[in-house]
Amino acid sequence: MKLTSRIITTDRTPVFAGDHALASVDKLISSLHLGRDGIFVLVDKNTKQHCLPLAVQKSVHLAGAVILEIDGGEASKSLLTAERLWKDLLAAGAGRRSLLVNLGGGVVSDLGGFVAAGYKRGIGYINIPTSLMGQADAAIGGKTSVNLGPVKNQVGFFYPAKGVFIFPGFQTTLSCDHLRSGMAEIIKSAIVGNARLWKRILVYSPADLLGLAPEHPFRLELLANAIRFKNEVVVKDFREQKLRKVLNFGHTIGHALEAYSQAEGRNPMLHGDAVAAGMVCAAFLSNRKTDLPTGEMVALISWITAGFPSYPVPGSDLQTIMELMKHDKKNTAGQIRFTLISKPGIPRVDIACDPSEIIEALACYQEPRQVG
Ligand code: GLY
Repeated sequence: MKLTSRIITTDRTPVFAGDHALASVDKLISSLHLGRDGIFVLVDKNTKQHCLPLAVQKSVHLAGAVILEIDGGEASKSLLTAERLWKDLLAAGAGRRSLLVNLGGGVVSDLGGFVAAGYKRGIGYINIPTSLMGQADAAIGGKTSVNLGPVKNQVGFFYPAKGVFIFPGFQTTLSCDHLRSGMAEIIKSAIVGNARLWKRILVYSPADLLGLAPEHPFRLELLANAIRFKNEVVVKDFREQKLRKVLNFGHTIGHALEAYSQAEGRNPMLHGDAVAAGMVCAAFLSNRKTDLPTGEMVALISWITAGFPSYPVPGSDLQTIMELMKHDKKNTAGQIRFTLISKPGIPRVDIACDPSEIIEALACYQEPRQVG
């Protein structure tokens, strides 16, 4: 497999990616003398069954670790679960020099990073992302968080991992829905940071792209692009003062839709599906606010709506979504601010949009065929 990279970010998190990524886990733990007060592996039910056996086979350190388990799914990203894990760590005698290994998708790495950041004012942690979402985005960049009720990622820390280990083979353990969800972040990286790659993606239908095996050269290239792009951005702006906001393309409306669907309880949206919906809205707003050419907008919206399920929102609930958007961390002075594009590969951050424009964008998402 060609994907082999070791990229150092300014926060000194090495990222190992490729077939041999897991073989680097022991080397890093030994060379940095991590886990002298014990090693703990955080898993959910799925990763315990499908990923832990391979991880412990590849790592002597992980084979001797204590396993901490949570339920899969967004509901686990809570202060309640964090408290339970802190108590488990305390009961197991974890100390300041313990190491937490997050083996799972975005929920495991966000929550595990948060728990590591808080326990005894901070212990070391590493991420071994097993979902495409985690491998392409969530596990890289040191953002850790839990949700507050329905509102996503409201409490958290910028707290870098000691290392990130990306083994693409774990993607074979994913359902089609979770693969598609991760693909949204892969596509986002190309739309925002690599116009040429986005053009090459458009040659495929979404179904054909998802049908490629994880080890297919193009799938690896897409993952490598997402990892590289995220690293480059995080190197320059770890604390999201400005540049890092480019990674939030599609997330302003996406997070609100995701929270809304979870509160509704009817078929909650996966994070990537919500980001895809948010990208449709962001493309519409980009056409209106930052001069994204209409042809580019139509291509983007058509591709995404062909590949991702739509989530119907009755007109009477649009105000609820607007309220949820007010919690977006990029907002300032009471304005809802978006990351948009003026062309693929040319992002623009901090673009304030009025409620009426946002409602129009949501209407476009509900009726994309009328756009153009
Ligand atoms: N997921 C966006 C970021 O890490 O900044």
